[in-house]
Amino acid sequence: MMVEQINAKGQLRHLLTLAELERSHIETIIDRATGYLTPAGHPPPHDTILRGQTVANLFFEASTRTRASFELAAKRLSADVLNLDVNTSSRAKGESIVDTIYTLQAMQVDMFVVRDASTGVPANIARRVDSHVSVLNAGESDVSHPTQGLLDLMTILQHRPDVDQLCVAIIGDVKHSRVARSAYQALTKFDVGDLRLIGPAELLPQEGFDGARLFTEIDEGIEGADVVMALRIQRERFTELGAIPDSQEYYRRYGLTEKRLRVAKPDAIVMHPGPMNRGVEIDGEVADGPRSLIERQVTNGMAIRMAVLALAHEHVRDCHGSTR
Ligand code: CP
Repeated sequence: MMVEQINAKGQLRHLLTLAELERSHIETIIDRATGYLTPAGHPPPHDTILRGQTVANLFFEASTRTRASFELAAKRLSADVLNLDVNTSSRAKGESIVDTIYTLQAMQVDMFVVRDASTGVPANIARRVDSHVSVLNAGESDVSHPTQGLLDLMTILQHRPDVDQLCVAIIGDVKHSRVARSAYQALTKFDVGDLRLIGPAELLPQEGFDGARLFTEIDEGIEGADVVMALRIQRERFTELGAIPDSQEYYRRYGLTEKRLRVAKPDAIVMHPGPMNRGVEIDGEVADGPRSLIERQVTNGMAIRMAVLALAHEHVRDCHGSTR
């Protein structure tokens, strides 16, 4: 059974996947996020709209950017924030994730931010929580990373709003990448002009990217590109260790270097979702160079997570109207 992400009033209730959102919903989130950006050198934005609400961050996979930015976003919106330490939680004693959720829900948690290595966990939780509670997907297996897709689209729109004219090249382990899937879902809602996926044949997807063009030669794939996004090899998702490419050989064939970038458009931008492996999928000179928007992606990620929490709050607040 599909979980409705938008409630009967048209408010964001859950954020599980970009595939089921309308373009207008994506625009609403990005517009809201834009309002949470502050000029360089200014203090970060603060708001009191989540005062009295509780956000629980449940990261059952490693994270730096997503976890830290969801925590900071919730605090900057004045929520009470719980960061469950999964290694010392009762999941280590065999408690199921659903029982963990029921336990925290009994402590009046209003929003769950969930990252898990298994497919379907955020939707499974969303089906079971009380009607006022929101579930936000912070990374689901190799399937979905919606806030990453939103921050990537926001970053591209800041550079070039005419997405339907753009050539976007994504290089690397697309097959195992939830980042690439969510970027694809976001970009196709905006009718991206030309989407290219580049990598060794064994790391290219066999399905799920209708309309994208596949390349095994990097120079051919990034020629004339407006946006070049490098991806990390997702070693943790390989089932056969022998299938993991050798890092040096991978860098030689697919590493994003200044020399390789010369065939992209002169004003092409470089993106990477992080965490980066310098000297494997991207050269340090490119990551730190003038075309790189990697830090801008992180800043936009903060704003997107504030926006998603603020919008989901409207659902929680309206449901609470009669109960708190
Ligand atoms: N891009 C991303 O999801 O980074 P983290 O794994 O550090 O959260």
